[in-house]
Amino acid sequence: MAFTSYHFILFCALLLSISSYCIGQNSPQTKALILAVKKDSTTLQYITQIGQRTPLVPIKLTIHLGGQTLWVDCENGYVSSTYQPALCGSTQCTIAKVNTCGNCSTSAPKIGCNDNACYNTPENPFIKTLYSGGQLNEDVLSIQSTDGSNPGKFVKIPNFIFTCAPTFWTEGLASEVKGTVGLGRNRIALPSQLAEIFSFPRKFAVCLSSSTQSSGVIFFGDGMMLPNIDISKDLIITPLITNPFGTGSVPSLNEPSSEYYIGVKSIRVNGKPVTINKKLLGVDKNGNGGTKISTGSPYSMLESSIYDVVTKAFIDELSNATRVAAVAPFETCFSSKSAGSTRVGPDVPTIDLVLQTTRVYWRIFGANSMVKVSQDVICLGFVNGGIKRTASIVIGGYQLEDNLLHFDLAKSTLGFSSSLLFHQTTCANFNFTTKA
Ligand SMILES: *[C@@H]1O[C@H](CO)[C@@H](O)[C@H](O)[C@H]1NC(C)=O
Ligand SMILES: *[C@@H]1O[C@H](CO)[C@@H](O)[C@H](O)[C@H]1NC(C)=O
Ligand SMILES: *[C@@H]1O[C@H](CO)[C@@H](O)[C@H](O)[C@H]1NC(C)=O
Repeated sequence: MAFTSYHFILFCALLLSISSYCIGQNSPQTKALILAVKKDSTTLQYITQIGQRTPLVPIKLTIHLGGQTLWVDCENGYVSSTYQPALCGSTQCTIAKVNTCGNCSTSAPKIGCNDNACYNTPENPFIKTLYSGGQLNEDVLSIQSTDGSNPGKFVKIPNFIFTCAPTFWTEGLASEVKGTVGLGRNRIALPSQLAEIFSFPRKFAVCLSSSTQSSGVIFFGDGMMLPNIDISKDLIITPLITNPFGTGSVPSLNEPSSEYYIGVKSIRVNGKPVTINKKLLGVDKNGNGGTKISTGSPYSMLESSIYDVVTKAFIDELSNATRVAAVAPFETCFSSKSAGSTRVGPDVPTIDLVLQTTRVYWRIFGANSMVKVSQDVICLGFVNGGIKRTASIVIGGYQLEDNLLHFDLAKSTLGFSSSLLFHQTTCANFNFTTKA
């Protein structure tokens, strides 16, 4: 079975009737929590499983790093004795900064469609439209605790705030996935709700595995350990930038975006700066431009003019390589014989995203820049994002894999490791074996 946590949730649900061993109340000992995350080979989405409802059911959700809420399909098969709609004027609605309050337009009230309830705008990053009729609710959520290095018992959150969406809103999500879990900067996103409920720091770490076979980890709280190594001491720190406008979700709300932006100042290929229109690199007052980190795209996207100069520089630096025909969605492909192999993937020019100073940069090595599309062909794993984009640079999933990203929401900083392969570890090395 793909997900270790699935077994535990079922196991604990069985035990629930006779013992409180598995699902404890929120014990003060809970210092950190984890989710196992696996890449779906068909959609390239990063998928996790969370226990929800009474009785508990394991729910598959796609990770949405900058997403503002955890939303699920409530129209199809939602059964729970602990479900509660968030009513107009309630604290939940205030915390969520909801946009509307009112009656569900269809006939009789039901789960996800109640009278006098608040509504927000759940975002599905894989279909590019907005849905403003997501009803806010509360229900039980169950998530696994950790001591930092191994998983511990599941803990139960009685009143977790989430959003209900109709079944059609799951379009584009991987098979069996019922919604997305938002890890954004706002208060009802998972990191802030967990930090508030368990009184731990508003910090979380994302470590996505490049393998579709073994899980990576998302870690809430402090002190994540990969076996025998504490990467947190080697992280490079950069400020998170606030996008004043929620371009990803609800522009009309005039709320800052829940998405994670960092301040890329320039790009170097093989250590040499490429010429970029600097105006594209800042976030303007309408929320356009800048560099966003997103699991909503499988590969990084570069605004057209940036894409052109970066790929040209890359091809120039890899001058000995044999170019081969493009393989969509990529345009720049090479014979795989063109590059030797190193600990950090194919031996190709490095791509640096230069941050607050020229000495602070996110270096992308072959393992994160080259995609093996067949036995003989490797392609530069960046896609042309076109001219008119909200973010000029989107650092997508493939470039995040086997990198540790540590978000500190209180300090508004991102700590990143660059490739963990340099440290001779991977995101799949988190030890998911429960201690005896
Ligand atoms: C909402 O429904 C209630 C009855 O459930 C009704 O009294 C109220 O007027 C309705 N409000 C609106 C805005 O339609
Ligand atoms: C490119 O080819 C030249 C001539 O064959 C060789 O001297 C050089 O080392 C090669 N460079 C790389 C990076 O392989
Ligand atoms: C994983 O954790 C278990 C339980 O603590 C331990 O027995 C095992 O040796 C660990 N595995 C690795 C690879 O560290």
